[in-house]
Amino acid sequence: MTDAPIGVFDSGVGGLTVARAILDQLPNEAVLYVGDTAHSPYGPKPLAEVRAYALAVMDDLVAQGVKLLVIACNTASAAMFRDARERFTHGAGIPVVEVVLPAVRAAARRTRTKRIGVIGTEGTVRSNAYPDAFVADPDVHVVQAACPRFVEFVEAGVTAGPELFEAAEEYLAPLKAAQVDTVLLGCTHYPLLSAAIQVVMGPEVALVSSAEETAVDVYRALKQHDLFRTATHPPHHRFEATGSSEQSFLRLARRFLGPEVAAVDLVRTGSITLPAPPREETS
Ligand code: DGL
Repeated sequence: MTDAPIGVFDSGVGGLTVARAILDQLPNEAVLYVGDTAHSPYGPKPLAEVRAYALAVMDDLVAQGVKLLVIACNTASAAMFRDARERFTHGAGIPVVEVVLPAVRAAARRTRTKRIGVIGTEGTVRSNAYPDAFVADPDVHVVQAACPRFVEFVEAGVTAGPELFEAAEEYLAPLKAAQVDTVLLGCTHYPLLSAAIQVVMGPEVALVSSAEETAVDVYRALKQHDLFRTATHPPHHRFEATGSSEQSFLRLARRFLGPEVAAVDLVRTGSITLPAPPREETS
């Protein structure tokens, strides 16, 4: 079991920023990554739909024999972490790590004024997962903003230019008005826009993302459950996507993770049994 891979999943390629941090901090571990590109983006979808897709992908990772699960997607973490813990940790003895609480910890350590901005997808903001997590400290003031177009920009390879800056100014205006001293990047894609966000927010504002801190949680879980890989030969990493295009996944994946992504295996619907999309309500 200890030589089994760590299962990491996201709606698409964004979770590879988390996989990158895991590979850096745990270079002897093997990673099995699934991008649910057939249903990406999760951000604009109802949380119940995200929950169903995410649980199906995690079922598949468990069927492939992973020793630990990482929900490397903020929207999925916000939508279904507790369900995942019930199903996989209590139900099957497999630890689950997510990305919301690690980022909250990092932001709480970083802020001096306790005025914290949180940016994420529409689903993440709607779930209120971040403000809920900060509630333990009544002095913390959280201002949230959904930045839906940021994911589109990153996927298109756009990290600068007038359109991006215009969108960033608009999205981040409430955070500037609230004079936050820390901005939590509550979406897998946003670390790739760090420079633009920093320029718009100003140099004094600290940007916090969950990737590094999540990797520490993975390390902690492996230690706690005595699951460190013991094999001495180099680990093999495997990347899977549920969508239909290897090429677009590969191109973006290399940007998010680097050259370790040598190939992508497409897992077509049917291999992973994905739930049918919810039927439209008819009145
Ligand atoms: N991975 C998603 C997140 O971190 C962003 C992309 C999407 O909307 O699926 O929230």
